[in-house]
Amino acid sequence: MDPPLSLAREVIARCRTLAAYTEEPGFTTRRFLSAPMHDVHARVRSWMEEAGMSVRIDAAGNIRGSYNAAQPAAKRLMIGSHLDTVPRAGAFDGVLGVILAIALVNLLAGKRLKYAIEVVGFSEEEGVRFGVPFIGSRALAGFVDDELLNYRDADGLSVLDAIHAFGLDPSRIGEARIVDDSLGYVEFHIEQGPVLESLDLPIGIVEAIAGQSRFDVIFEGKANHAGTTPMNLRRDALAGSAEWISVVEREAQATPGLVATVGRLEAHPGAGNVIAGSARATLDVRHPKDAVRQKAAASLLTCAEQIARRRGLSVTWESRLDQASVAMDASLLDTLRDSVTRSGYAVHSMISGAGHDAMIMARRMPAAMLFVRSPGGISHHPDETVLPEDVAAALVVGRTFLEQLHD
Ligand code: GLV
Ligand code: MN
Ligand code: MN
Repeated sequence: MDPPLSLAREVIARCRTLAAYTEEPGFTTRRFLSAPMHDVHARVRSWMEEAGMSVRIDAAGNIRGSYNAAQPAAKRLMIGSHLDTVPRAGAFDGVLGVILAIALVNLLAGKRLKYAIEVVGFSEEEGVRFGVPFIGSRALAGFVDDELLNYRDADGLSVLDAIHAFGLDPSRIGEARIVDDSLGYVEFHIEQGPVLESLDLPIGIVEAIAGQSRFDVIFEGKANHAGTTPMNLRRDALAGSAEWISVVEREAQATPGLVATVGRLEAHPGAGNVIAGSARATLDVRHPKDAVRQKAAASLLTCAEQIARRRGLSVTWESRLDQASVAMDASLLDTLRDSVTRSGYAVHSMISGAGHDAMIMARRMPAAMLFVRSPGGISHHPDETVLPEDVAAALVVGRTFLEQLHD
């Protein structure tokens, strides 16, 4: 079977087209329901309609294209990924999975299967705007609660406000939930790491996704004059958080398989001649084993308390996420492995260190994922890219998977 290389090139071009829709000119920054998501929806809608799907946008801002089965009462296979991005992102994280799914429907050329297909572009997976990820897939899987809807962004707007401002009706969010029987959920995604490249493989099968804990950690001290306050009389919240951040790095380095990251730190009042009275840091902790992750997170928070006490500071934290690691569905994995072999590629199974919507969807239906090699292992960066041959491999495997899947 010839790899559909020209279609792969088209998929890549479409991802790059969407990368131009951004909150920040010159970069790709597109947070949950930010204004450029309207343009993304318009483009994705036209590509979905062209592939023969009927399209709707649900109240959580997910764009959903339905491709009917041969028979009306058939079950449905869901294929998707997310359309939001981290700040200054690449063009492929999430977006590739949505565009590739549409291309798979294109490849059917109007042929109807025994099952329906729903392609979904999730509105939010990165957790950037509200510090909490998976808003889109949580709505589909039915795990939206008042706590989530009332989180606030840096401008003080809640998730509810954001949904309103985008022109959607948050009171209808319950309608986003999938209630009927689905065959499963499949997600195509870039690997975002160096493993496939090191093995010289275009694609890999995800067997499980590592769990993650996320917190906001707030150090409180006393703002004061930077020129007149002697060093021994300061309660510098930023210096305290800096000490703690280096402990976070050291502890993670000392624990096999553990990754821990402080990716954001805000000092207040934030002036060069004022000792910081408070500092707010994010903490992201991940490990394939939940017990190791939870123990490490608890220990890092205890370290924050110890450092704060010694420095005359106080520290509090807010838990944003405690997501267990998730195994992918054994039966879908079998079909995926078989499809990889039939397509002439080597089977390589791996664990994802990155979080994915598949983690949430797996709580509602069987879920599986296929990774596409990330050149240079680079992701969450404008240099993120994919090779046309690898996207073609994913298309061939995806097409075979659709043929092999039974309703
Ligand atoms: C999503 O990109 C994550 O943070 O794993
Ligand atoms: Mn992603
Ligand atoms: Mn990401």
